[in-house]
Amino acid sequence: MKKWVLKAIVQKIISYLPMGNKINYLFQKYITKGVYLTDEYFYDRLGHARDHLNAGHAHTHTHTHTDFPKSCLELGTGWYPIVPIGFFLAGAEKIYSVDISFLTSKERITTTISRFVDAHQKGVLSDYVKVQEGRLAILLECFDNIEELSLEDILRKLKIEYLITDARKLPLPDNSIDLVNSNNTFEHIYPEILTPILKEFKRVVNKEHGVMSHFIDMSDHFAHFDHSINVYNFLQFTNRQWRWIDNSIQPQSRLRIDDYRHIYHQLGIPISEEKNRPGDVDALKTIKLDERFVTKPLDVVAISHCQFISKMKDA
Ligand SMILES: C[S@@+](CC[C@H](N)C(=O)[O-])C[C@H]1O[C@@H](n2cnc3c(N)ncnc32)[C@H](O)[C@@H]1O
Repeated sequence: MKKWVLKAIVQKIISYLPMGNKINYLFQKYITKGVYLTDEYFYDRLGHARDHLNAGHAHTHTHTHTDFPKSCLELGTGWYPIVPIGFFLAGAEKIYSVDISFLTSKERITTTISRFVDAHQKGVLSDYVKVQEGRLAILLECFDNIEELSLEDILRKLKIEYLITDARKLPLPDNSIDLVNSNNTFEHIYPEILTPILKEFKRVVNKEHGVMSHFIDMSDHFAHFDHSINVYNFLQFTNRQWRWIDNSIQPQSRLRIDDYRHIYHQLGIPISEEKNRPGDVDALKTIKLDERFVTKPLDVVAISHCQFISKMKDA
């Protein structure tokens, strides 16, 4: 049996158990080794923080570079709050992390902070984030006193607030957020839920100077774990077959870039800039595509990663 099939079966079973997320964390930690905070993951997500900040600076309207963004929101932060801490260092005054599950912990935030300290000591942190005066001192002080601080103390010092809630209804006023972002999260949300979430983002993001920036990884995530299949493997299945394979622990909607463009268009959210990874059409041709995908242009289906940037003044 292929490794990815085994993983799909185990995740499917876990998804039916109470405390599925916790069990999945332990499964990934001890079996698939998918939750260790590797350098590759840390610097990739720090790169996302940099790219969101650059997108914000390029597309904001009235603010100067030094005071944008003041308020940020990340959807689906996950286990390690790398992007929120990046925004804190860049000077943000309020950073919301919206997730359906509270996936961080004191241990995981400590690990994340220690990676930032390490990046600072290696002299590479400033390649990613223009650290605001005073912010690094707060982070280093947190790290030095980490034993005495509670998770709540750490989050307060880093100006991060977790909102464990349905993102379709946020407890935030209209126009209150400067920069809304997400990383590797949209692909896990089916359109019936993603559409109202984006509608809510449109409400809370500031329409004068606000920016949205979302990274989407449209590759088959089972291929990240099993290199015997390529990143288009899941496009061979019918929707019916996929419902059996997919699971609620790490669902994959299989939306392609044109589907996301369509949702944005329907909601009147501008795509001011799109940065795509073109993908590999030759690899795609090795897969017998299901009818849902076969009518689309190959170069559109092949795009595996994208960043959608929206200048909300154009909405
Ligand atoms: C694959 S993880 C991405 C984690 C992290 N952003 C990264 O870059 O690796 C997807 C995250 O989205 C969250 N998520 C999934 N569906 C969601 C929803 N409808 N509303 C809020 N968060 C959601 C999950 O709980 C999880 O933390």
